[in-house]
Amino acid sequence: MNRETWLITGGAGYIGTHIADLFIQDGKDVVLLDSLYQGLEPRVNYLRKKHNQEILLEVVDIRDYTAVENVLSSHNFTGIVHTAALKAVGESVEKPDEYKEVNYTATTKLLELAQKYGIKKFLFSSTAAVYGSPDTMEPCKENGPLAPISPYGSTKLDAESKVTEFINTPGYSGTSLRFFNVVGTAAQELLDNSVENLVPIVLGKLNNGQAPVIFGIDYPTQDGTCVRDYVDVRDIAAAHLVAANATSPIPPIINVGTGRGASVREIIKLVLDATNKADTEVIEAPRRAGDPAFLCADVSLAAKEMGFKSKYSLEESIRSLF
Ligand SMILES: NC(=O)c1ccc[n+]([C@@H]2O[C@H](COP(=O)([O-])OP(=O)(O)OC[C@H]3O[C@@H](n4cnc5c(N)ncnc54)[C@H](O)[C@@H]3O)[C@@H](O)[C@H]2O)c1
Repeated sequence: MNRETWLITGGAGYIGTHIADLFIQDGKDVVLLDSLYQGLEPRVNYLRKKHNQEILLEVVDIRDYTAVENVLSSHNFTGIVHTAALKAVGESVEKPDEYKEVNYTATTKLLELAQKYGIKKFLFSSTAAVYGSPDTMEPCKENGPLAPISPYGSTKLDAESKVTEFINTPGYSGTSLRFFNVVGTAAQELLDNSVENLVPIVLGKLNNGQAPVIFGIDYPTQDGTCVRDYVDVRDIAAAHLVAANATSPIPPIINVGTGRGASVREIIKLVLDATNKADTEVIEAPRRAGDPAFLCADVSLAAKEMGFKSKYSLEESIRSLF
């Protein structure tokens, strides 16, 4: 059988490099495409050294459709893993047009080009942000209410529907994977360099000698702080491999989480323990607008339809960072 070649957009990013790592281990060739806006070539260098092979990194903006088309036309891709995106929720409120261009319009163009070049598998990085700020304490189901509260969430939701149209074309396949809060790393060289998620935010505070902050201690949760679903990046990569290797159709939209919630207070404690800073003061501040008390994945669809379950515990994910 011929080796498969996969295009990974956002391939120098935190999640993209973890997917590349696993796909290479599985015997696939990968071509990475990234504007290096947030992506880091040293991550790719780490993979080149680890796997002792050249890994092509195309430094291209996904909004440069001519350059993207050149990449698609010069390889025989089996499929595309599309992780390239802008992902800062706060920034998306300030720059909604740019978020629409990168997260939605460029995704629709990429799908059109994939069709033009006969690339029939497409795996899209979606997000729990499509669920918005639910006011229930029930895990989110894929077919449950969708109400994004930021341009980031809405651009991802709009892109999902285009991906679903693509997947529903006879002969085509793939899925949109809705990731919850991604944590952990397979190697120090592949660490998350953004400060969007709680764990990097807490670590950043500690590195600057500042106290971590809890926003809201009066939520209707066990310890009064918000609960989220933290899923290891190695599990995210594993879910992509299962989806890429699926031989029968999988649902067009699938949550990827652990199904277990952890509170802000628990996360801060785990990080303080892991950094031997258990005595650090923690600031308790008022609630922030738009933060739901509880946002966790119902993971039964991934288990039933893909046989996928997350493997890493939160403790393992946090330990992997040090
Ligand atoms: N990290 C999380 O917790 C999380 C949760 C849910 C969904 N996601 C989604 O997963 C995907 C990957 O996220 P990540 O955490 O690896 O972030 P990341 O910023 O590390 O990766 C995104 C990559 O896309 C690249 N990129 C951005 N704009 C581009 C453009 N115009 N052209 C080409 N490349 C561009 C960046 O340089 C970066 O390398 C994103 O689509 C994000 O929305 C992430």
